[in-house]
Amino acid sequence: MGAVSSAEQVSLPLKKPDSPIKHQHWAFNGPYAPVDEEVFHALTVREGQLPKDLEGCYLRNGPNPLWHPPSETSNYHWFLGAGMVHALRIKDGAASYNNHFLRTKAFMDEQKNGPVFDKIAFSTSMSSFLLRFALEKVGLARGSASGPSNTNLVYHASRLLALSEADCPMELKILVDGHLQSQAEYAYNNLWNAHPKVDPVTGKLYWLDYDLTGVTAKFTYGVIDTKGQEERKCTGVLGGGKAVMIHDCGITEKYAIVIDCPVLVGIENYSVEGSLWKFDASHGARIGIFPKDGESGKVSPTWFQIDTCWIFHLANAWEEGNTVVMVVVRWDRIDMSGHGKKDDFLSGNKRTLHEYRFDMDSGAVVEKSLASGFETLEFPVINQKHVGRKSQFTWAAGNLEGEPPFHRIFKFDLSNPESYASYACVSDGKKLTAGEAYFVSKGSAEDDGYLLTFVIDPEGKAPSSFLILNGQNLQSICVIDLPARIPLGFHGLWVSEKQVKDQISNSVAAKL
Ligand SMILES: [Fe+2]
Repeated sequence: MGAVSSAEQVSLPLKKPDSPIKHQHWAFNGPYAPVDEEVFHALTVREGQLPKDLEGCYLRNGPNPLWHPPSETSNYHWFLGAGMVHALRIKDGAASYNNHFLRTKAFMDEQKNGPVFDKIAFSTSMSSFLLRFALEKVGLARGSASGPSNTNLVYHASRLLALSEADCPMELKILVDGHLQSQAEYAYNNLWNAHPKVDPVTGKLYWLDYDLTGVTAKFTYGVIDTKGQEERKCTGVLGGGKAVMIHDCGITEKYAIVIDCPVLVGIENYSVEGSLWKFDASHGARIGIFPKDGESGKVSPTWFQIDTCWIFHLANAWEEGNTVVMVVVRWDRIDMSGHGKKDDFLSGNKRTLHEYRFDMDSGAVVEKSLASGFETLEFPVINQKHVGRKSQFTWAAGNLEGEPPFHRIFKFDLSNPESYASYACVSDGKKLTAGEAYFVSKGSAEDDGYLLTFVIDPEGKAPSSFLILNGQNLQSICVIDLPARIPLGFHGLWVSEKQVKDQISNSVAAKL
């Protein structure tokens, strides 16, 4: 970045296209359509009141490409758009909003050079991915940061990290006034998937990743201690013998869980699928379980064959004696193509809240649907104090037949999951779309806390709002109007006021 100071870099205007992005892919339209401005606004509460015991910052990550596709029909994948984080800061009884393009390596390359490979594949993130893919495949590069950091956020060891599929975790900071600021350096020189787990008892972070090149069936696994230092790094081999996308991972008190479901990875998929990933039911599905702590080196999971399906996200996992219990949102199939001719990603599949019980002594597995009948169901969340330990409650976003996608926030009591409760997002009679509802614990009861989410116009027209629900009864506590529309995206995180202060004082690295 030459001699330009950090403060000047932040104030540099974004280089962007002269006219808004136009593309037929569903991920460029309706509630998914990207925004091209970064704004900062003080906000007004429309309904209810801000809870006095809720101070900090809610963040939500998601794809938000800034540049034109080469044509209106070129391939694109929703997972590969440049990352934008939307921050809702709550402090001293007031709220503010800031959205921030993550200054990833790919994003900064794009700012400097324009979308350099846009004749091959739209978006520098996607092109950067493909280039890295090709270089890694022929052994010319390993483990370089190249992705959009657009999927999730995690707070650990006084660091706030933005994460995406098979990429280095990227650090960003929340400033006291609610502005976000990307950090110049990536936080760890390892590729993680987007869903590491923080053990609520030990404070250690557990990450996992797969071979994005599709060359090997290896996965990598690591442990970061409470000071942010690498404690353990291992490799293992997937039970199916092929590289697959591994979006999430699980932990229990003693074990780590790796998911081997049949979304195969390989550049050979691109010519037909328009995507690096392809669902192939013939590969089957299996779950691997291995000790989560120990020496670096190799891990050899015990593999359990399960009915073929796709799993993005675990709700939770825990041990009951020698049985490992895992609750997930199960898809019966998935379309991972990049053609985007219809809403193929979200439709044409069945989603269930699903339970697996793995007997670590006998090797037997029992699986069953806990709740079904949803048109969409995703983004399962729990009280983070129960990660890896038995939990009774799971909340998730979804909708029933005929409703806009993710119209409701569901609450499942795992002791009686078929009789779930739900909150429908409606304003002035219009049915709206929610996102993942992040649970913030505030009491000793597992479900005593707040659910936080952005609420979005499913037609992609009206400005969005921020919603706070009571986690126990799903009653609305507060609705805050936002100045702009927020695209439907991926995962959120609540950063408490203490964590906001800790991450500010943690380092004074150069800012982008
Ligand atoms: Fe995810």
